[in-house]
Amino acid sequence: MTGKSALITGASAGIGAAAARVFCREGASVTLVARREPQLALLMEELRTAGHQAQYVVADVSRTEDVARAVKAAVTTYGRLDAAFNNAGIGATPKPMHLLDEDTYDSVMDTNVRGVWNCMRHEIRAMLAGGGGSIVNNSSTAGLVATPVTAAYIASKHAVLGFTKAAASEYAAQGIRVNAIAPGSTRSEMIDAWLQENPAMEEVLLQSAPLPRIASPTEIAEAAVWLCSDRASFVLGTTLSVDGGWTTR
Ligand SMILES: NC(=O)c1ccc[n+]([C@@H]2O[C@H](COP(=O)([O-])OP(=O)(O)OC[C@H]3O[C@@H](n4cnc5c(N)ncnc54)[C@H](O)[C@@H]3O)[C@@H](O)[C@H]2O)c1
Repeated sequence: MTGKSALITGASAGIGAAAARVFCREGASVTLVARREPQLALLMEELRTAGHQAQYVVADVSRTEDVARAVKAAVTTYGRLDAAFNNAGIGATPKPMHLLDEDTYDSVMDTNVRGVWNCMRHEIRAMLAGGGGSIVNNSSTAGLVATPVTAAYIASKHAVLGFTKAAASEYAAQGIRVNAIAPGSTRSEMIDAWLQENPAMEEVLLQSAPLPRIASPTEIAEAAVWLCSDRASFVLGTTLSVDGGWTTR
C-alpha cells in the first residue's frame, strides 16, 4: 500500500480503527471516516505521531453529502483515491422477525446497505478519474448464512455481497477491483454490547467454531488490507470469510 491513498469508514472503533493502523503500517495515507470526532482525532494523532499520514472526516455514511465530502477530502489531500474499506456498520437488538419494527429496519438498512452503496458510488467516481482502485466491503458471516432473531442485519449483510458482486462485474474493465470480507465474531464495541445483553451467547459462539475464540479486530483488518493491495490483483467479486471456520459447520 506504499504511497496509496486509502479511505476507511467506521474508523473510530473496532475493526475500522484496527484497519487504520494496519493500512498505515503497510504504507498507506489514510482518510478516517466515522461519526464520533473525539475518537477520530485521537486515532489520527496516534498515527501521525508514529510517522504516518492520516486525516479524518466526521461523516455519516448513510448521508450522501457526507460521503461526497469524505471522498473529496481524500482526493484533495492525497491527490487520488486508490483504496477503500467500507466497514461502517451497525447491529440491532435481537428480535424475532415478526416483532422487528420499522425504525430498526430503517436504521440498519440505512447504515449497512445505503451506506455501502453511497460509499461505493463516490469512491468509484474518484477511482475512475484516477485510473483504477480497489474496494473492500465489510459484510459478515451473517451475509452468508442465517441465524435466528437478526433478520434485518442478515438481510443487510447479504445485500452488501450483492452490491460487491454487481460493482465487481461492472468496473473490472476500468481497473477497479471490488471484494468483500465476512468476519465472524470479533472483539469490538458491537459484539461487547451484544454479549452484555446476551451473556450466554459467548459460550455458544465459542463452541460453534473450529477455532473456539473471538477474533481480534486486527485479524480482520489484515484480510481487508490484503484484498485492497496489489497482492490480491486477480481476486475480484469474492467474499473472504475470516471466521475461524465458523461457516464450515
Ligand atoms: N464485531 C463483530 O463480531 C463483527 C462480525 C462481522 C461483521 N462485523 C462488521 O464489521 C463492521 C465494523 O464493526 P465493529 O465490530 O468494528 O463495530 P464497532 O461498533 O466497534 O464499530 C463500528 C464503526 O462504524 C461506525 N459507524 C456506525 N454507523 C455509522 C454511520 N452511519 N456512519 C459512519 N460511521 C458509522 C461506528 O462509529 C464505528 O466506528 C460492521 O460493518 C459490522 O457489521 C462485525
